[in-house]
Amino acid sequence: MTFEYAPAPESRAIVSIASSYGLFINGEFVDPTGGTAFKTVNPATEEVLAEISEANQSDVNAAVNSARRAYDRVWSVMSGRDRAKYLFRIARLLQERSREFAVLETLDNGKPIRESRDIDVPLAAAHFFYHAGWADKLDYAGLGPNPRSLGVAGQIIPWNFPLLMLAWKIAPALACGNTVVLKPAETTSLTALLFAEVCQQAELPPGVVNIITGAGDTGRMIVEHKGIDKIAFTGSTEVGKSIARALAGTRRKLTLELGGKAANIVFDDAPIDQAVEGIVDGIFFNQGHVCCAGSRLLLQESIAEETIDALKRRLQTLRLGDPLDKNTDIGAVNSREQLNKITELIKSGDDEGAQRWTAPCDIPDKGWWCAPTIFTNVTQAHRIAREEIFGPVLSVLTFRTPDEAVEKANNTPFGLSAGIWTEKGSRILWLAGQLRAGVIWANTFNRFDPASPFGGFKESGFGREGGIQGLTAYLRSATDGDDQAKGMS
Ligand code: NAI
Ligand code: MG
Repeated sequence: MTFEYAPAPESRAIVSIASSYGLFINGEFVDPTGGTAFKTVNPATEEVLAEISEANQSDVNAAVNSARRAYDRVWSVMSGRDRAKYLFRIARLLQERSREFAVLETLDNGKPIRESRDIDVPLAAAHFFYHAGWADKLDYAGLGPNPRSLGVAGQIIPWNFPLLMLAWKIAPALACGNTVVLKPAETTSLTALLFAEVCQQAELPPGVVNIITGAGDTGRMIVEHKGIDKIAFTGSTEVGKSIARALAGTRRKLTLELGGKAANIVFDDAPIDQAVEGIVDGIFFNQGHVCCAGSRLLLQESIAEETIDALKRRLQTLRLGDPLDKNTDIGAVNSREQLNKITELIKSGDDEGAQRWTAPCDIPDKGWWCAPTIFTNVTQAHRIAREEIFGPVLSVLTFRTPDEAVEKANNTPFGLSAGIWTEKGSRILWLAGQLRAGVIWANTFNRFDPASPFGGFKESGFGREGGIQGLTAYLRSATDGDDQAKGMS
């Protein structure tokens, strides 16, 4: 007997969304000088939520100048102990206002409230707690004597984990003594703007955090700004490459966290039910809008059929629909553009001869949605096996021997993450050494912790975020010139 789920929507009364937002520069919300704005919508309903300002060159200049002043006069000369107090304060405020952040994130992004409430917001707070702990201990982190900050960091983030990516960027930068100019993605600015309020509430000195909104053009102005000492970018490989070109030959530092096409490898001795949960988590978490998603499933041939059957049974129990409903597993796709991209790649799978299976579910009339989809009969040459789909679409391949698994797993231009499912510890260790990926999970997938460094190989980017390793991205190393902190490029 199966039970029907009654609707269990989370109330949105806790958030108050303004009809329009300014830019957060020097501790205050100010109107954009160009006066232009764009709309942000709820992807589950297509309802317009608010008007967001578009920052132009003079706004970017104002934000960078504000960050520079705050760096020179306040933040770079403050003791680590005092910086830590602000970071702890921000972390606690994120916890106190967690329901507000979760509801707002779900409204603006389309992800299920279960995920924004249990993953995005708690992890964002955890990043501030973790880095608050580092702020007064940088001298003892094995980073050499007297590690020093870089100056002003320009940070550009994507729409898939808006608040969490903000935390990954801002927490280490501030802990190490840098000030920041951050730009959220154009479809998901609201939680970054609420975070600006948290900075005010925490009485963070004006200019330490500046949040400016806008699309790719605003991002490019940040990248090209001579007053910025370091760029940190998370987003598409295409834009990442253009940023790398723009910064080549300058002294500005760069970290890039780009796309992925991770292999999730299941051996015949793995507990299948557990592996199925890991496969679901790997590719259907956050509608598959995850750079480290386990989008290529590699099954050992002898267990392939049985695993695919179990996976299909499991996918039929996933609930797609209202992201604010606490029972929802699959929310809305963040934008029409992203849905078009996913649909185009699904069509290429059909056209190239892979076999598609789509979970039966009712698609709401409004908004942008994609039902969980798996492709079998996939070859390594298919586009769906090579390109990042960034949606709830899994490509299944098979292998016979561990060597073949390694060869197929590494046959990609990306190298962000990988998963291994087996009972043999020795096989996990051997395979982890063979895989060209920055993060490797064993008998689990998509686990994150601020103490654990995250980042890629090859076209997935370079530099690490989180852990001691992540601190080095915001500190001057012995080989950096002395003019770095003065903003010369
Ligand atoms: P995108 O890379 O264009 O956008 C990411 C951020 O960069 C946004 O804040 C955007 O405004 C900014 N940006 C865009 N062009 C820029 C430029 N020339 N200079 C500086 N900043 C710029 O990603 P988009 O268009 O949202 O998604 C396209 C595809 O990229 C997705 O389908 C997915 O495959 C991939 N992607 C991967 C992400 C990851 O975490 N690895 C995150 C987002 C997208
Ligand atoms: Mg783009």
